[in-house]
Amino acid sequence: MNFKRLFMLFVLVISLGVFLAACNNEGEETGGSSGGEGSETEGNTEEAAEDEPVTIVYARGVDTTPATDAVIAAFEEAHPNIKVEQREMPADTGQSHDQYVTAFSSQSTEIDVFNADVIWPAEFAQANYALELDRFIEQDGIDMEAYFPGTVAAGKFNGRQWAMPQFTDAGVFYYRTDIVEEPPTTWDELISQAQELQGQEGTEFGYLMQAAQYEGLITNAIEYIASYGGQVVDENNEVVVNSPETIKAIEKMQEVVGSDFVPDNILNFMETETENAWIEGKAVFARNWPYMMSSSNDEERSSIVDNVEMAMLPAGDEGSAAALGGWMTMINRYSEHPEAAWEFVKFISGPEGQKISAVEGGRAPTLVELYDDPEVQEVSSLFANPEFREVLQTAVPRPVTPIYPEISDIMQIELSKALTGEQTAEEAAANMQEKMEAAMAE
Ligand code: GLC
Repeated sequence: MNFKRLFMLFVLVISLGVFLAACNNEGEETGGSSGGEGSETEGNTEEAAEDEPVTIVYARGVDTTPATDAVIAAFEEAHPNIKVEQREMPADTGQSHDQYVTAFSSQSTEIDVFNADVIWPAEFAQANYALELDRFIEQDGIDMEAYFPGTVAAGKFNGRQWAMPQFTDAGVFYYRTDIVEEPPTTWDELISQAQELQGQEGTEFGYLMQAAQYEGLITNAIEYIASYGGQVVDENNEVVVNSPETIKAIEKMQEVVGSDFVPDNILNFMETETENAWIEGKAVFARNWPYMMSSSNDEERSSIVDNVEMAMLPAGDEGSAAALGGWMTMINRYSEHPEAAWEFVKFISGPEGQKISAVEGGRAPTLVELYDDPEVQEVSSLFANPEFREVLQTAVPRPVTPIYPEISDIMQIELSKALTGEQTAEEAAANMQEKMEAAMAE
């Protein structure tokens, strides 16, 4: 190659670089959510047709694992013309919820794709915040039967699909393999082992759970309630929370929360507090979601690497029960990039995205086949255990209703009063019954 041709090539590479940088900047300047503002953009659209780089904004809660970054890196590599900008929302699902409601009710276009807690799709669909996904699902031939049915159902409302299952959560029980010989199988065994083992290997606490007044308290309570055979609402959508079973469950919760093997400030504990204390090696047992396995084995953050295992939660009179949690992906109804947004939703909820989030983030896939994948099975023996698939399938959902936030508030207030000793378990159950009935009747 002679000098002149080399020079021309150099000029070409530089101008291409400048052109691409200009396109990227344009995406950034518009907050990633504009496609048609200003004449410059329109000019680009004509020239670059559908390959024009676009930036979408993806809002999600706090992720203490490397999973989100890894999924986005893989997506961007596969889709060089779509850039994903992350927007971090609060770790507390209730606070995130309220911020989304504020944004979406004013038809903001700022966010394109967002993570939705399994308890939101019905409400968000009804409020017209979300884009229906059926046409995309059909167009790309997505096999919804490859997912756990409960996770698909959580994203359905009025017969249409509003959210794609991203990962599922079921409450799990963590224990320290360097301290515990046989993990407890009942709440009473937990209480006696926690008392006995607290203090070993430098631990301060026997047990950690989520008892603050927020959504996580509801999931913990549902586990106690279902493990004693109680229910909040039944199959006919009747409120049935005031039962001897629920009362017994609340009493057991009061016993655990009031014990001296939990932190003094357990009533401020959410997932983050649990995770921080746990990976510092402060407790023998903990209840959390599957992602904490990944943090437990994170060499940089954890002091208990390779000393942790997961098991089913302890049982009450009826058996062991896990609350159904998890996160879905939805598209803002007013997104200006619905096609690019869908490409991202499809990737993150598809086999590649879910595998990354399982391996890098310890999250439980919603695609059944991934449980046969050796790398997913390596995350924890629980993922490799067919019984765990049962747990996921039979996890107990929270009431599915567009007024879920009201139901949750009632439970949060009444349960917190029971845990602080302001009222008895009987009073809590009766108050929940009365207030929920009134809310549902409105
Ligand atoms: C987890 C669950 C979610 C639940 C929340 C409660 O994020 O996936 O469903 O609402 O915890 O804190």
